Amino acid sequence: MTPTIDFDAIDRSRVPGLLRRMPKAELHVHIEGTLEPELIFRLAERNRVALTYPSVEALRAAYDFDDLQSFLDVYYAGASVLLKEQDFFDLAWAYLERAARDRVVHAEIFFDPQTHTDRGVPIEVVIDGLAHACQRAHAEFGLSAKLILCFLRHLDEDAAIATLEAALPHRRHFIGVGLDSSERGHPPEKFARVFARARDEGLHLVAHAGEEGPPSYIRSALDVLKVERIDHGVRCLEDPQLVTRLAAERVPLTVCPLSNVKLRVFHDLSRHCLPALLDAGLVATVNSDDPAYFGGYLNDNLVQTFEALPQLGARQAWQLAANSFEASFVTEDQRRQWGAALDDCFAAEVGA
Ligand code: ADE
Ligand code: ZN
Repeated sequence: MTPTIDFDAIDRSRVPGLLRRMPKAELHVHIEGTLEPELIFRLAERNRVALTYPSVEALRAAYDFDDLQSFLDVYYAGASVLLKEQDFFDLAWAYLERAARDRVVHAEIFFDPQTHTDRGVPIEVVIDGLAHACQRAHAEFGLSAKLILCFLRHLDEDAAIATLEAALPHRRHFIGVGLDSSERGHPPEKFARVFARARDEGLHLVAHAGEEGPPSYIRSALDVLKVERIDHGVRCLEDPQLVTRLAAERVPLTVCPLSNVKLRVFHDLSRHCLPALLDAGLVATVNSDDPAYFGGYLNDNLVQTFEALPQLGARQAWQLAANSFEASFVTEDQRRQWGAALDDCFAAEVGA
């Protein structure tokens, strides 16, 4: 519900500051996508892993992508330096410290166990390192951080099932499962059994759909996998009936503007469909996806997107943060608390 805040009384010049200061949830970030080049080099040295790039600058210069697949090739290569529990802790801790500075009060963080187990890293090494960082972030700066285990959709369903079974003894450390990696040619239906199994375990369900893939992938993620949220989902706009359904059922979309530009889903931010998604009444949220590769964390995504799109102002800033809490897998009570903090943040700006 929109509060009684006079958004029109908030001067546009104050919006970037508001975007940075407002409490928010991040619901679409791949922890392996927060691996900064500096940390890649530090871990490569610590673990004696050979890198093909001679320097941080040379590696960063390679971050010029044509599409999702060209990015994924670089992203999986970067993850090869992650071997020990301490590495996974350091990775997640660096992200969580950064997120707290962006006033992220809640993060639901994707991780890709198969990227690591296929290189011989035990799944408990991955989960324990990440979970430890999440626990410490909550203890040290009150940031609520939860893990979502993603299956790599370019691999087969039996591998996803084996991954889920191996992870279930660590069930207390993750709240849901997701589906990521190469979308085209790998429709959600391919993973019907593993999602049914995860559902039986009481796990939350999400899936990437409609990033590069067609709107029909969004429909099958909902109907076959029974997901509660769609990651990306921007291509829903090609199917007006689907948009009506997403709005009516309040299915959240975790949208990632800088990612979409880097992976050429949109030519530039001024052509991004975020305003159209909000105008259609969708529960759209803004997220960073793989911030180390796409040029910005959550506040960078928000500020740059608002800068590029003059139709976005204080009202939409509030709406995006409110949507992020509505879309979070948390209790109603927690949602209300963060919602009240959000309203206070905006109320303090009226007439300021
Ligand atoms: N894995 C990491 N980032 C991804 C994205 N944007 N789409 C699909 N899989 C991913
Ligand atoms: Zn993603």
